Amino acid sequence: MSTRPNPLAEGLGLRRRPDPCALVVFGASGDLTQRKLLPALYALAYRRLLPERFAVVGVARTEQTTRQFVSSMRRAVKAHARDPYRTDVWESLAAGIRYVQTDFADDRGEDRVSETLERLERERGAGGNRLHYLAVPPVAFETVVREIGERRRAGDGWTRLIVEKPFGHDQASALELDGVLKRWFAEDEVFRIDHYLGKETVQNMLALRFANGIFEPIWNRQFIDHVQITVAEAIGIEGRSGFYESAGAVRDIFQNHLLQLVALTAMEPPIDFTADSVRNEKVKVLRALATPGPGSIVRGQYGRGWVEGEEVPSYREEPGVAADSVVETYVAAKLSVDNWRWAGTPFYVRAGKRLARRETTIAIQFQRAPHPPFAELAGGGLRPNVLLVHVQPNEGVSLAIGAKVPGAGMQIRTVHMDFLYGGAFREGVPEAYERLVLDAMLGDATLFTRSDEVEEQWNLVDAIVGGWRRHTPRMPNYAAGTWGPAAADQLLHRDGRSWRRH
Ligand code: BG6
Repeated sequence: MSTRPNPLAEGLGLRRRPDPCALVVFGASGDLTQRKLLPALYALAYRRLLPERFAVVGVARTEQTTRQFVSSMRRAVKAHARDPYRTDVWESLAAGIRYVQTDFADDRGEDRVSETLERLERERGAGGNRLHYLAVPPVAFETVVREIGERRRAGDGWTRLIVEKPFGHDQASALELDGVLKRWFAEDEVFRIDHYLGKETVQNMLALRFANGIFEPIWNRQFIDHVQITVAEAIGIEGRSGFYESAGAVRDIFQNHLLQLVALTAMEPPIDFTADSVRNEKVKVLRALATPGPGSIVRGQYGRGWVEGEEVPSYREEPGVAADSVVETYVAAKLSVDNWRWAGTPFYVRAGKRLARRETTIAIQFQRAPHPPFAELAGGGLRPNVLLVHVQPNEGVSLAIGAKVPGAGMQIRTVHMDFLYGGAFREGVPEAYERLVLDAMLGDATLFTRSDEVEEQWNLVDAIVGGWRRHTPRMPNYAAGTWGPAAADQLLHRDGRSWRRH
């Protein structure tokens, strides 16, 4: 008798459990561990998605004991996890957590990490598989990678690295980091995080495009007038002046998150959803991006203003920021993807801090109907069709269409067909880090950035920043709580277009 696959088990295949393993977090006393990483591990433990035999070693410079580390992590989970606190879930996770204090430059420290790890692996049966999470400052990077690389032993199980951003400061430094990684690790052992790829709605862009038959035929220059991608934040730099003063919006958001959103929106259908097929298509888009000339890029910096009812200082008044800083907190660009599908269809992108509110959206604006018989009746009420992907908040997708206003006559108005995650699925939207940490444990790099993508991203940013040396606009040039500098509006007005209304 032939056995048919049980259709009810279909979804379960997607929830393969990872091998037993240990997660070693370098830079464990930082904000990221508290706000994102531990809450993500807790959410995974809550859903029984972690390996049965699992251990965590936190490594950082801060002087503290394992007991102190575990109790601060418990507080972090209580404060930031998306699930209710359950003592049994936390305790099973906490039993496998250890802390090692070390200065990354001190080689003996690495011996202590190894000793702790080996002991813990024996206790927990974690099997010698190791996932190293590198949330360390750039100066410590090489030492940590070398120590891990030199200590790996053949037959130990797998060794993988998750590397946090920033991955370099420009193309040259990113290549240097890659050189360090490649001395000890193969590309499929390196997982460069861009947490936007872990967001449900960003992955939904792929589902929307490639799991539906109706969008792909019109997903091109013939039907799409232009694309707008917005990564707006209401928050400021949150005490990160040290990093931000040397990065600015172009390195912090544009180089990674924004360009990845462009790549996912513009890419060709991959032949399958394996890591290399998807990334091969994304990198082609990044290669096809023309360098925007000075007239196609706008930068800005916020002055004082009001955000969500609260008065906030200007960027230059933030602690640690130079009083005459010209670092940009806003960047907008008109990008062109120079290939067959997109030639002549601009991608307008913008990212900024201290804007009116938090909103990440991808708006696909279609061309107007070629011969609208109702033109004179529609008045100002009829706008072109827009497919709007709400990446966050209010995750969902909405399609703007023209509809007849009820009543006599033929008045047309734009209405929205909405799909909201909250309404369609009972399960809450997982945090990006849950998905990404789990994927790295499973060895699936589809949602991580490959070295050639990073290289292309920096290539574009280096060219943009190079052009900026010749001319700096007067800063600040937008008030906190607004939608950015006037020049960004002009960028679209010149083309007879405007940013989506908010
Ligand atoms: C980080 C940036 O990569 O992304 C931060 O360094 C930014 O400056 C953050 O605030 C935004 O992430 P999210 O998930 O809140 O959109």
